Amino acid sequence: MNTESAQAQILALRKELEHHNHQYYILDAPEISDYDFDQKLEELQKLEKEYPQFNDPNSPTKRVGGDITKDFPTKQHKYPMLSLSNTYSREELEEYIERIQKLIPEEEIDFVCELKYDGAAISIRYENGELVQALTRGDGSKGDEITNNIKTIATIPLRLRGSNFPAEFEIRGEVFMPLAGFAALNQSRIEEGLEAFANPRNSASGSLKMQDSKLVAERPLDCFLYYVMLEQRLFSNHYDAVIATADWGFKIPSPAKRYIEKAKDAEGIFNFINYWDKERHNLPFEIDGIVIKVNDYRLQDRLGFTAKSPRWAIAYKFKAEQQETILESITYQVGRTGAITPVANLQAVSLAGTTVKRASLHNADQIAKLDLRIGDSVYVEKGGEIIPKVVGVNFEKRSPHVSVFHYTETCPECDTPLRREEGEALHYCPNELGCPPQISGRIQHFISRKAMDIEGMGGETVEQFVQAGLIKDAADLYLLKKEDLLPLDRMAERSAQNIIDGIAASSAIPFERVLFSLGIRYVGETVAKKLARHFETIEKLQAASLEELLNVNEIGERIAQSLLSYFKDERHLDILKRLQAVPLQFAIEKQEGASAKLEGKIIVISGTFERYSRNEIKALIELHGGKNTGSVSAKTSLIIAGEGMGPSKRKKAEDLGISLIDENEFHDLISAE
Ligand code: IVH
Repeated sequence: MNTESAQAQILALRKELEHHNHQYYILDAPEISDYDFDQKLEELQKLEKEYPQFNDPNSPTKRVGGDITKDFPTKQHKYPMLSLSNTYSREELEEYIERIQKLIPEEEIDFVCELKYDGAAISIRYENGELVQALTRGDGSKGDEITNNIKTIATIPLRLRGSNFPAEFEIRGEVFMPLAGFAALNQSRIEEGLEAFANPRNSASGSLKMQDSKLVAERPLDCFLYYVMLEQRLFSNHYDAVIATADWGFKIPSPAKRYIEKAKDAEGIFNFINYWDKERHNLPFEIDGIVIKVNDYRLQDRLGFTAKSPRWAIAYKFKAEQQETILESITYQVGRTGAITPVANLQAVSLAGTTVKRASLHNADQIAKLDLRIGDSVYVEKGGEIIPKVVGVNFEKRSPHVSVFHYTETCPECDTPLRREEGEALHYCPNELGCPPQISGRIQHFISRKAMDIEGMGGETVEQFVQAGLIKDAADLYLLKKEDLLPLDRMAERSAQNIIDGIAASSAIPFERVLFSLGIRYVGETVAKKLARHFETIEKLQAASLEELLNVNEIGERIAQSLLSYFKDERHLDILKRLQAVPLQFAIEKQEGASAKLEGKIIVISGTFERYSRNEIKALIELHGGKNTGSVSAKTSLIIAGEGMGPSKRKKAEDLGISLIDENEFHDLISAE
């Protein structure tokens, strides 16, 4: 390919990918499969690497991140980012409407009602259709520049569509984390021994401030834009401006779903509020109220601003959904790392449409801070979390006889005295080798999908094996024989063989995932990946000093200390030695035949095969950098279909536009040069 045709190809691919991004993320109407999209993206990445002279800061390849910002520069906002004045009652809102009507008595005021998204405010600047800068709100007059991080958010256009946009303008909106993504993120953080985010708002604003934009790209962030700052007004009102930005490629609140709506008067506004007061619990993201704006720009100008906020807009905030109930007991859960988490057991109460019997209590300090006592009448609230939380005590109802609550000093499972490290919020059970939930928890983590992904085994099988005395750590799995399993309850010949094969197939799992599987405290998927890539072998990682560990980007004191103490412990060294003898992959050195041909691909295997066994296919997927998952979803890149693939799966694949290949095509795919 000559330079000229390379350039043409680069430009064409960018255009094509921008189109498909828009179809997928903004219109929710994908035209090609994820797999085909990834292929094109990869091709573009390759070409851009080969021809760096055609670099473009807004190429679709920038979405995956990669740029690191050590300190975010503070920049002045061209127009200050004001906040909104709040009301909490209908009376206050009615008073507001009357007040502004009195300020401009001769005018008829029309309103726009919007959702008040609960995330982090941002202001993005476009010049000649290109995203050039994104700032956080900061103190309103200066914000932090987070342009690289903002570019990773798929619903924010890097280059605008059409040509009807002004040459220069700023647009403001809210970056937020949808509830499903928030729950999944917290789940994996808990599994990694990290502190969970308190709510989606914190996780959204925390994500925007991460130094490595690649990590930001992995966070499930989304954005709605709600305000266009135009120097020359192309529109006469706010509503028309917002709707027009959809043509420029922005994701706007949907009028059809009533995310935005015009209202003529108080009645219209209250109709909107009443609807969302009920329906807000069914939204896929959090809102904390409704924003009411005067629609006409001319009237907005007449009303003007106070020092802090516009007079032409106001926020109506919902009261957090709260109920009062009795705290019946506090019990404790023991995680695989030995971390103890207290749980409040409540008298059943209905809250935001669900029956609540349990609430999370974080740690001992929180119980002390709330001064909780068994038998208290407590307030429970539902925030962004799926699990509600206890937020306070109704002291008026406290009986004079209740005694102060004492946090357990011993492990609820094995009676060992608990420990609490300085600066740590949680108590830990130190009986790593003898505490049953820790033993099975560690092995469950080891076999889990994101770790060694051992097919045929689940939480219950692990429990069963531990109880039968067959295994006491992950290394024991590799000594199991089919005959050991057959005497167990509900263990047929076929499932036993399946488990043995699954365990054997896991020896192809790459080093970074083996490292994650070890369950070292604070070493989650991403950290494991970083460490594996940096040190390349377990020996080098093991030999690393504190300083060398801290030199790895994003590895802080806490993770470094955890690694040092892990490798100091004889018991861990023993397990490692036995896992190395299997042998598992303890180096990133390429395995025979390994490639990155399936890098990033999520592949489903369905049906039975002649050329390979399912486990062989799985091992081959791993060997070539792909990932095997069980069920077909929008994320699936490819399905390897064998004999007897179910019709419903086939239909789902077709609906989602996912390519199906047979085992021979799969063979060709991984053998191609
Ligand atoms: S309009 C000049 N509309 O609420 C006023 N704000 O205190 C510009 N927010 O920090 C704000 N949803 O981040 C507006 N539909 C919406 C909003 C919204 C959420 C946030 C915004 C701001 C805060 C107001």
